[in-house]
Formats: sequence, structure tokens, C-alpha cells
Amino acid sequence: MRILAIETSCDETGASVVEKKGDAQTIQVLSNVTATSLAIHATTGGIIPENAAREQVKYIIPVISEALLKSENFGKIPDKWDLETANKILKEKIDAIAITYGPGLIGSLLVGVETAKTLSFTFNKPLIPVNHLLAHLFANFIHTPPSFPFMGLIVSGGHTDLLFFESLKNYRWLGGTRDDACGEAFDKIGRLLGLSYPAGPEIEKRAKDGSSTKIRFHSPLIDSHDFDFSFSGLKTEVSRFIEAKNLTKALTNEICYALQDAIFKVLAKKTIRAANLYKVNHIVLGGGVSASKTLPEYFKYSIKKAGLSLKILVPNREFTTDNAAMIGAYAVLDYKPLNWHRVTASPDLYFV
Ligand code: KG4
Ligand code: ZN
Repeated sequence: MRILAIETSCDETGASVVEKKGDAQTIQVLSNVTATSLAIHATTGGIIPENAAREQVKYIIPVISEALLKSENFGKIPDKWDLETANKILKEKIDAIAITYGPGLIGSLLVGVETAKTLSFTFNKPLIPVNHLLAHLFANFIHTPPSFPFMGLIVSGGHTDLLFFESLKNYRWLGGTRDDACGEAFDKIGRLLGLSYPAGPEIEKRAKDGSSTKIRFHSPLIDSHDFDFSFSGLKTEVSRFIEAKNLTKALTNEICYALQDAIFKVLAKKTIRAANLYKVNHIVLGGGVSASKTLPEYFKYSIKKAGLSLKILVPNREFTTDNAAMIGAYAVLDYKPLNWHRVTASPDLYFV
């Protein structure tokens, strides 16, 4: 089974060709191309949806074409405008098309969904609609076979959600953020600190030099009995803290450490409590914030402290932030094609 996967939920335009041979345990990524409009959003301090959609229109055809050409041309840099060869590969080598249908920004999603529908109709290929959030978790199963049951934590710029996966078909949402997502908290507070967008990676880097700090911020809802999170209050707490202070480099680094500590502590504590309650052996992390090398360290420390033995899975770094290979991986593992005219963009899609 060889799949062309397309991802356009936000500011990344991704296309990938993935393959699962017979009963192979792992998925091969034959190509994975991502174009990003991040530089434009850095100038506006965040994403303006119309700008993101406009860039999607610009990138979609060359990105798909490049992914198709690369899937047949290891090592060579193809001419991404060689649409004739790309069409031939799609026609002859691809079994199905997978597409992110939500959640995400409506304008961005529409570009990918309408393109995928057109290709599905024109080339007569089955079309598999994929939930972007579930795909973030399934990014782990590109190189490692899935092991159910597991506790899944999605941590991205738009989402913080905890899901119990009993099996592929049987999963349950246990809780999520009541307001800002954890990545959003990093980005918004980063802006207060004068860091560029997206701030998560720089906060992680600076936190390494601020670890001797005595500054502590609250870990919201850390002792609540549910599995909810809340990060918008941290913005107010940090903004009050820095009022009338001279934000030196050293102080900024210390704030970054304290902020990361407050967020990662609550993510680890609640996920580990859920894993213990539901008696699973694996915790699976996914989403842009799982690109952090520090986050799994918090999990390992808390697991050890609680005297538990739980395994933590994190996707390979290239599959943590938005990409199409994870969309392909999900479609391979949960192959459910729909007739193209039944596939529609669903910006508010949750867990179905
Ligand atoms: O999954 P993603 O690429 O896009 C969404 O679907 O939202 O996630 C982007 C988020 C941003 O908020 C960014 O600040 C955060 O991931 N991020 C990080 C790190 N790298 C990216 N947050 C903390 N530490 C990192 N190293
Ligand atoms: Zn995402």
C-alpha cells in the first residue's frame, strides 16, 4: 500500500509518500516535503489566517509534485515543476490519497481538501480523510509499531488533549485545555518577553541557562481531580511578574525556565496519573511541543519519582511539527476511504 498524503491545516504545506509493505511492522517514508509560511507569520507575531491560506495556494502544487518525484528519485533533487512525470507517478505508483480534513484554519484546510478531492476524482484513487490531531500521535508509529493500550497526549500550538487509546478503533478523550493550548502559552508569553514566533524552541534553549532560578510560576490545575489543563492564567502571572522589571538576558532566561517548568510539570503529572489509572504501559506524545527534548525528561523524572515503569514514546523530531508523513501513517494504519464528494473540510473537527 503506497499513499500520497497531504497536510494543509495551518501554516505548513506538506506532501509525503509513505508505504507499508504486506505485514511489515514499520512504515517507510519515501518522501516528506514541507513548505512553511512561518517567516511571514514571524513578522506579524502570529498567524493571520488569510495570509496562511494565500501561501497554501502558492505552495500546494509544487509541494505535491516534489513529494511524488522524490518518492521515485532517492538522492536526486527533482524539478518540482515536472508535472508530467509527477502525474505519471501518481497514476502508476500511488494506491490512495490521504488528506487532513480538520481541525485547522478553514482557508488553509480548503486548499488541501479541494486539491485532494480533485486528484482523487481525476486519477480515480481512493481518498482517506484524516484527523490532524490523531495523526500527531500516530507520527510515533512510522518507525515503531503501535502498542495498544496507550495514553496519548497531544501538545501543539492549537491543542492540549489527553486520550486513552484502548485499541485503534476504541479511544476516549479524557480531558484537555479549557483555554489556551500549551504551545500557544509558550508563543504568547514569548511575545511578552520579546522572543520571536514561535517561541517554544527559544524558550527551551534559554531555559537551559536559567535553571538556577528561584522564580516559580503556578502549574494550573495540577491538583484537580479531572484531566483538564488551563494555561491562559500563566500569561497574566508572567505579565504581572515582569511589570516594571528590567528584562535582562539573565532574567529572561530564568523566566523561560520557570515557565517551562510550570507547564511541563502539570503535563507530566496528569498524564502519568491517567496512565496509572487506566493501567497502560505506554505514554505517547505528539504535536509541535513534543519537539522539546526537555519534555520527555520531565516525564521520565516524574515516572521514576512515582515508582512506576512506563515507556515514553516521542515521534522522530522531523515528524513532531505539522507534516504530511504522519497523515500518511494514520491512513495506512486506519484505512477508511470515503467517496471524494463526501469529504469536506471541518475546521472544528474534534475526536470522532
Ligand atoms: O503541531 P504544531 O507544529 O502546530 C500546531 O498544530 O499547532 O505545533 C507548533 C507549536 C508552537 O506553539 C511552538 O512554539 C511549539 O509547537 N514548539 C515547542 C518546541 N518546538 C515547537 N514548544 C516547546 N519546546 C519546543 N522545543
Ligand atoms: Zn499540528
